[in-house]
Amino acid sequence: MEIFAHRGYSAKYPENTLAAFKAAAKLPIAGVELDVHLTKDQQVVVIHDEKINRTSNGKGFVKDLTLQELRKFDFGSWFSDEFRGEKIPTLAEVLEEFKYKDHKINIELKSNIFVYAGLEELVLQEVEKFGLKDRVIISSFDHEAIKRMAELDPDIEIAPLFSHSIFNIVPYCSTIPADALHVSYYAVMRRPVLEAIQAGMPVRVYTINKTEQAEILQNLGVDGFFTDHPEEMMKFLYKRN
Ligand code: G3P
Ligand code: MG
Repeated sequence: MEIFAHRGYSAKYPENTLAAFKAAAKLPIAGVELDVHLTKDQQVVVIHDEKINRTSNGKGFVKDLTLQELRKFDFGSWFSDEFRGEKIPTLAEVLEEFKYKDHKINIELKSNIFVYAGLEELVLQEVEKFGLKDRVIISSFDHEAIKRMAELDPDIEIAPLFSHSIFNIVPYCSTIPADALHVSYYAVMRRPVLEAIQAGMPVRVYTINKTEQAEILQNLGVDGFFTDHPEEMMKFLYKRN
């Protein structure tokens, strides 16, 4: 079962910062997950929330600030003084960290709240620039965005995100078309997702921080999961198998 470091190694480092990605890049895990938004000046930046309030010493929406304005804020000290001065990374800076590694890189398009016109094209340009197309997975709760991505590049791996299971999930996914399913721990227990696993659809689950849950997922035949604790999960699965 594959382990993905959720927002980088976010249990020990401030989420979605270069510190968290550098730490994840050192681990022998399958991959890493990150979230992207678009700035006022159309730069793709890596951050989870629409606002910078929770993870920086600044305030406001990412969409209302330029990259230069965002760079003035500290995205590390909310987590610990040790990380004071961490900046918000661009997608390009994170991709650079994985260029010479073999990790899969799951880019989650956070366009489910605000419409970020052109985000798919900009993300694809960066991925192509780094030659990472065969290691990238594009996911989103915004299924229109991933459908557009699938149209722009039919070869890139596409995974819709579901917080809840839906009726007829497999036929629905073929309309995108999706290569994999990314679902919550609650959704994976429901019949439509279990049927997707049985049908051979790759299923990955978020966010798994308890080893008992990882054990249940492995018994269900899940392909992978996202965790804030990649090292702990690595050791657990190693012992179990
Ligand atoms: O991509 C899996 C997971 O990251 C989705 O939820 O809110 O942590 O981005 P969230
Ligand atoms: Mg995410």
